[in-house]
Amino acid sequence: MNIVSLFSGAGGLDLGMVQSGNNIVWANDIDSDAVKTYRKNIGNNIIEKDIQNISLSDIPECDVVIGGFPCQGFSMANLQRDVADKRNVLYRFFCAVVDSKKPKYFIAENVKGILSIGKGEVIKIILKDFEDLGYHVTLHSVNMADYGVPQMRQRVIIIGERNDISELYPFIFPAPTHGKDGRPARWISIKEAIERFPNPDLPNSVPNHEYSAYKVVYRNFTAHRQTDPNKPSPTILARGNGKGGVCAIPHYNGIRRLSVRESAAIQTFPDDFIFYGCKTSCYRQIGNAVPPKFGYLLGTELQRISCLMEISKAV
Ligand SMILES: C[S@@+](CC[C@H](N)C(=O)[O-])C[C@H]1O[C@@H](n2cnc3c(N)ncnc32)[C@H](O)[C@@H]1O
Repeated sequence: MNIVSLFSGAGGLDLGMVQSGNNIVWANDIDSDAVKTYRKNIGNNIIEKDIQNISLSDIPECDVVIGGFPCQGFSMANLQRDVADKRNVLYRFFCAVVDSKKPKYFIAENVKGILSIGKGEVIKIILKDFEDLGYHVTLHSVNMADYGVPQMRQRVIIIGERNDISELYPFIFPAPTHGKDGRPARWISIKEAIERFPNPDLPNSVPNHEYSAYKVVYRNFTAHRQTDPNKPSPTILARGNGKGGVCAIPHYNGIRRLSVRESAAIQTFPDDFIFYGCKTSCYRQIGNAVPPKFGYLLGTELQRISCLMEISKAV
């Protein structure tokens, strides 16, 4: 499938799409570090620009539009949630691209907090907006740990299927591959995901293996809780306490915070995927990402549909 990717960031979702055999024809992000990371690891097909300044005619035709519109305005962690938050309007650009390109499918990712803004009224508006564009829309609330990601990461995925194809070629949302009760397989723990990395304080050649000096003090709130080595990691965050830094999760050794590389591994980025920018920027790009492993499952479903379409063309 040919994909247009909006709000692509460092390319977590896009990497999964490419690894599963899809083709990203055009991508966009405003953040220069994320764009550099994307270019060096995925491809040159990304434009660094504010989406608000991009003309729809500059975006190519495609089969699928994907993207995670910025979640700051939507996050439950943001106490000043506001229906009128300016960043929330960015999703309208996602709608405009879908309206203009009329892709067969679209996939939009967001934080779980999107479900509760305005007592659930905002998500209703969003879904109706998409339906009015001619799409059958479904909402999926997922925990990435259920898909083999070593992390408790609750996200909402909105799938749009163009009305004229939704019955013939429905998008079958991936079933969980892992579960708390060990079925189909047991959740992967943080220790299993990162124990292979050397001590970052000793000389090593692991890229991005530096960590935040922010002291580990347990205060029983997000990013300040003890990490259990035998459970999936807490959510890898994209922001901190509002003072500019990103809050990295404490390592389960209790001595330091996770390195950039360890955070990336928990987000299922391959070890040779290099992040560019300062430490804070790298942490942010990683915390913002859709785990590539989950992106791969979504991309595999697109491939399944694409094969069916090819077969029916041939007969
Ligand atoms: C949640 S992240 C998306 C991460 C991406 N889906 C991934 O898997 O790596 C949202 C992205 O939107 C970008 N963004 C925010 N405002 C933007 C704008 N006005 N134009 C283009 N990109 C923007 C941010 O720089 C950020 O990388």
